[in-house]
Amino acid sequence: MSLLIKGGTVVNATGAVRADVLVEGETIAALLSPTFTVHADEVVDATGRYVIPGGIDAHTHMEMPFGGTSSADTFETGTIAAAWGGTTTIIDFAVQAKGTSLLSTLDKWHRKADGNCAVDYGFHMIVSDVDDTSLKEMESCVDAGVNTFKMFMAYPGVFYATDGEILRAMQKARETGSTIMMHAENGIAIDQLVAQALAQGRTDPVEHGLTRPPELEGEATSRAITLAKVTGAPLYIVHLSAAQALDAVTKARDTGQNVFAETCPQYLYLSLEDLAKPGFEGSKYVASPPLRPKEHQSELWRGLRTNDLSVVSTDHCPFCFKDQKELGRGDFSKIPNGMPGVEHRIDLLHQGVVAGEISLERWVEICSTTPARMFGLHPRKGVVAPGADADLVVYDPAARQVISAETHHMNVDYSAYEGMEITGKVETVLSRGRVVVDGSGFRGSTGHGRFLSRELNQYLV
Ligand code: URP
Ligand code: ZN
Ligand code: ZN
Ligand code: ZN
Repeated sequence: MSLLIKGGTVVNATGAVRADVLVEGETIAALLSPTFTVHADEVVDATGRYVIPGGIDAHTHMEMPFGGTSSADTFETGTIAAAWGGTTTIIDFAVQAKGTSLLSTLDKWHRKADGNCAVDYGFHMIVSDVDDTSLKEMESCVDAGVNTFKMFMAYPGVFYATDGEILRAMQKARETGSTIMMHAENGIAIDQLVAQALAQGRTDPVEHGLTRPPELEGEATSRAITLAKVTGAPLYIVHLSAAQALDAVTKARDTGQNVFAETCPQYLYLSLEDLAKPGFEGSKYVASPPLRPKEHQSELWRGLRTNDLSVVSTDHCPFCFKDQKELGRGDFSKIPNGMPGVEHRIDLLHQGVVAGEISLERWVEICSTTPARMFGLHPRKGVVAPGADADLVVYDPAARQVISAETHHMNVDYSAYEGMEITGKVETVLSRGRVVVDGSGFRGSTGHGRFLSRELNQYLV
């Protein structure tokens, strides 16, 4: 089967060009001059549209057990929502439960995802136990295509790792060429502030933000960078939200250290004011790190422009307002941490193009090309070029839409962006040559998505 995407502007991280895209089977066969005629079994009209590489969301949590409940999207519902939003690859976190092995964790996540995904997927591993067995198993994970390991400086008693444990894992990462991903917040200090707030009867969702000050993200980020420097390991800071943390990353990168960072749409568009909404509405916005005062947002856009922030992922971790966020009414520390977002990353970042914060090419780079390189998927993913997987999005830059839980496809009963007006819309989505979304709706199938065994980080020097 061949398919021709005709009349569009192909946008890659390296530039935009008027070209038709010929797809044969699962891959891109050619980029053709619009004057060239060629037979194809199916033609998609992309006149006035962008043709971009499918989005790669390198940070999702589908059906993840957390805070006494489980995130509301399954691999099936979450990857269908991703497809609707132009994301054709997710990298989800397999979570090692304390006392269990990394390899059994990986098996468990394969059992959840295999045969159930609408788009391609890979895994990162969350390391909860640092001991000789886990460290040895990191090597087997790398062989199994999982070479990125998330650790936590937050959540004492749950995921928290001591500096010593982090150091040991970083040494192993250095040895194996893998990358440590860090949740950088000083959880020990935060837990004291949380206990003090609760003792004073401060129980509302906004306290989640007030007890996790940005300085404690800055401090943890600096400490993680220092540990990475001592061990020579590459470091990737996940869900960076605070100017203080960005400052630390910027300084490290300026000295040539292999330090990378992602931010998320919620930190670019939402703020502490949302967490302070009355009537327990604020619980919808509880995630860690917390939403910050608005003034952090311009710094994050600066970071995206200067590549101190290299990637935008969603940290998609949805919990329903009605039956899950509710667990923390009367005690903000019991609100399950996480927000939905996998469906709207491409659209939300396109607003950055519309507003002149980032260029068109940079939009593609931070949503697709860099995550492909960072997580060892390039040039199979992240680029519209002959030989690459035909993961393609036809994007209408002029269409208007309003984000709402009424119309989204994520399995969650609210939208963090309810009522937000968006310029631009995903029109047609291909995953490995197959049209999975178009004007008629979702045309894909669960089970189409394949596990991606990943190569090492392609930015390491
Ligand atoms: O609040 C968040 N971010 N939930 C997901 C887990 C994590 O720390 O990424
Ligand atoms: Zn985290
Ligand atoms: Zn996360
Ligand atoms: Zn629910």
